[in-house]
Amino acid sequence: MSDTVHIVEVGPRDGLQNEKTPISVADRITFVEALIAAGLKAVEVGAFVSPKAIPQMVGSADVLRGVSHHTECELPVLVPNEKGYEASQAAGAKLIAVFAAASEGFSRANINCSIEESIERFRPVLARAKADGVRVRGYISTVLGCPYEGEIKPQAVVDVAKVLWDLGCYEISLGDTIGVGTPVKARQLLRAVAGHVPMANLAMHFHDTYGQALANLYAGMEEGCRVIDSAAGGLGGCPYAPGATGNVATEDVVYMLEGMGIATGVDMAKLVAATNVVSGLIGRLPVSRVAAALNAK
Ligand code: HMG
Ligand code: MG
Repeated sequence: MSDTVHIVEVGPRDGLQNEKTPISVADRITFVEALIAAGLKAVEVGAFVSPKAIPQMVGSADVLRGVSHHTECELPVLVPNEKGYEASQAAGAKLIAVFAAASEGFSRANINCSIEESIERFRPVLARAKADGVRVRGYISTVLGCPYEGEIKPQAVVDVAKVLWDLGCYEISLGDTIGVGTPVKARQLLRAVAGHVPMANLAMHFHDTYGQALANLYAGMEEGCRVIDSAAGGLGGCPYAPGATGNVATEDVVYMLEGMGIATGVDMAKLVAATNVVSGLIGRLPVSRVAAALNAK
């Protein structure tokens, strides 16, 4: 597999949205700057969501403004509805991400509406984004299991993926929100969704709760998927996914890819330095095995 992989770093958003310690805007900018300095070409910097639901993401407009001179890097932000869209545009966002779920229970818990209602909320967002020349990514959560409904059939994911794709999302990111997937299931899921959305437009967003994320990514790569979401240090989690831990660690992904002969353009020492910055801020060591190994040297 000697070709290219696009890494979408989600640490400053997914990584920090569940942290108890509030991180200031200035510190979040420092973290994003360190990630960009490490060579990452896409960094999700924040979310324009309800401050009551996710207080950790308050100040996302200032984080985005603080790093938007990095035109060499994609800087996506989450947007759940038109209100969020307007705030994202006031802050100058050029790339946004809407987020749906494959299960009704998670949709309700996360964004307080059914899957169908969420699509109706996204419809005007996508129409306005198209008119404004803003690119839209589409997340689907709970693709390999739901904390409220258990197993999720690939068809449920396909149904939502088709709608998001038809609405104009340029990429569909498949979220194993609670990290319960295993490689064969991840492979079957990618195969099923790729029957309706081109594989080139699919991304894998795997949390690592059960330690399967790297194996699942490898299985997805064997199917041809070449976009990987990850978080520096293995940060992350969603307040509406009880017990779920962080995203697959960017260091571990980069180590695996480089070991496969796939150049990532990421400087590992600088990436670990970025992780150490955020570890200091949240007061915890990174769960990334690679970061731990390199820090021990
Ligand atoms: P709602 O209560 O249904 O919305 O929330 P509403 O329209 O009835 O508004 C209620 C209040 O929220 C109002 O304020 C609105 O102004 C405000 P009030 O009058 O009570 O003071 N409001 C907003 N404020 C700021 N920005 C907005 C916005 N919209 C409404 N955009 C809503 C619906 C979606 C807003 C809410 O449930 C919410 O913000 N949820 C947060 C969801 C979230 O951020 N979850 C974590 C990210 S998703 C994730 O982690 C999964 C992912 O990583 C993939 C994976 O791993 O699976 C992407
Ligand atoms: Mg996530």
